Amino acid sequence: MENPFYITGIIPEPYFCDREKETAWMVQTLKNKAHILLTSPRRMGKTQLIRHVFEQPAIKDNCYTFYTDIYPTTSLHELVLFLSKEIYSVLVPKGKAALDKFLTAIRSLAGSFGYDPIASTPIFDVKLGDIRTPELTLEEIFNYLEHADKPCVFAIDEFQQIAYYPKKNVEATLRTHIQKMSNCMFIYAGSNRLILENMFNSSAQPFYNSAEQLYLDCISKDVYTGFAEEQFTKAGRTIAPEATSHTYDLFEGHTYYVHNVLHNAFAYIDSDKVIDIEDIDKTLSDILEEKGRTFASVMNQLNYQQKETLVAIAKEGKATSVTSVAFVKKHTLKSPSSVQYAIKTLLEKQLLTYHNEGRSKVYRVSDRFMEMWICRTY
Ligand SMILES: Nc1ncnc2c1ncn2[C@@H]1O[C@H](COP(=O)(O)OP(=O)(O)OP(=O)(O)O)[C@@H](O)[C@H]1O
Ligand SMILES: [Mg+2]
Repeated sequence: MENPFYITGIIPEPYFCDREKETAWMVQTLKNKAHILLTSPRRMGKTQLIRHVFEQPAIKDNCYTFYTDIYPTTSLHELVLFLSKEIYSVLVPKGKAALDKFLTAIRSLAGSFGYDPIASTPIFDVKLGDIRTPELTLEEIFNYLEHADKPCVFAIDEFQQIAYYPKKNVEATLRTHIQKMSNCMFIYAGSNRLILENMFNSSAQPFYNSAEQLYLDCISKDVYTGFAEEQFTKAGRTIAPEATSHTYDLFEGHTYYVHNVLHNAFAYIDSDKVIDIEDIDKTLSDILEEKGRTFASVMNQLNYQQKETLVAIAKEGKATSVTSVAFVKKHTLKSPSSVQYAIKTLLEKQLLTYHNEGRSKVYRVSDRFMEMWICRTY
């Protein structure tokens, strides 16, 4: 029996939970020819939502859809490579004519294609070094999308990366092109809300006001638990409603973590047994034990101050006023300035995240499993 709780890869439609309102809104927004900025905390479900939107008939039957995750990129060269690779891979199943059309359009890379003699099609095996004029290639890519025979939707995931590129005009270059396009809508997604909202909400920035915004929150408790119980029932199994409710509450509904616990409960609890709260707690302990090795090695790479700061924040859950004397005292830390210093590194390493509540910053350990593991271990 297939495990209905997917924790990796693309979720097949029957196992995709809810997001009905968000999906309808995104489809409608794209139909209205507006771009979308999609943000959420990490592992809430942005990428899955984009994939789901692409599966909707209104999009699937009428548009070309593209998706690229630019997290690894650090320059316009790489961005251009990622965009063109994605277009190429979408066109491969459409055959020679479609491929030829694209490869002819990106003339600046013409000398860099290979050739597949059996299928008699060009192969896109462009290396980074082949991209000598990224601005020109970018223009050619956008030109191609603008003149495609169907509307295009291009999702660029982890879009905040652009802000880290050393060359500062990339945002402006992209925006100049995109502004002129009417056949291609973009979905910009990412979890670094601070950077993304600054890119789109401050009037000095090129992307200012250029996208409709959606902040993705948890799936509501009744919808998620209903979905989860139904998945067990369909598989001929039973989970006690208190157990699904308990799992949801452990992580305040944070999608990936709730889903991962139910995935493992489905996989490892005896299929004749009614799954109860104890089974869930046991499943969670096993997950933490298994992931503990990785967490331990992450902790090993931190210095003492960073470690004790991370532990203090984990124990606090949502930590405010972390550089106050009261916080330092409560957790017997060294000093407010050492905490401040440690937090900077922990944020850079993405072990911590924060959001603003009024004027104060609320810090939290990014990975909810790691937070729990730290609380149990230290
Ligand atoms: N609608 C959904 N139905 C079922 N499971 C979901 C859904 N959304 C998210 N998940 C679960 O949460 C996991 C994380 O989702 P996803 O990768 O889309 O999050 P994300 O917000 O893109 O995360 P990141 O910021 O790390 O890229 C999925 O692999 C899946 O296990
Ligand atoms: Mg993602």
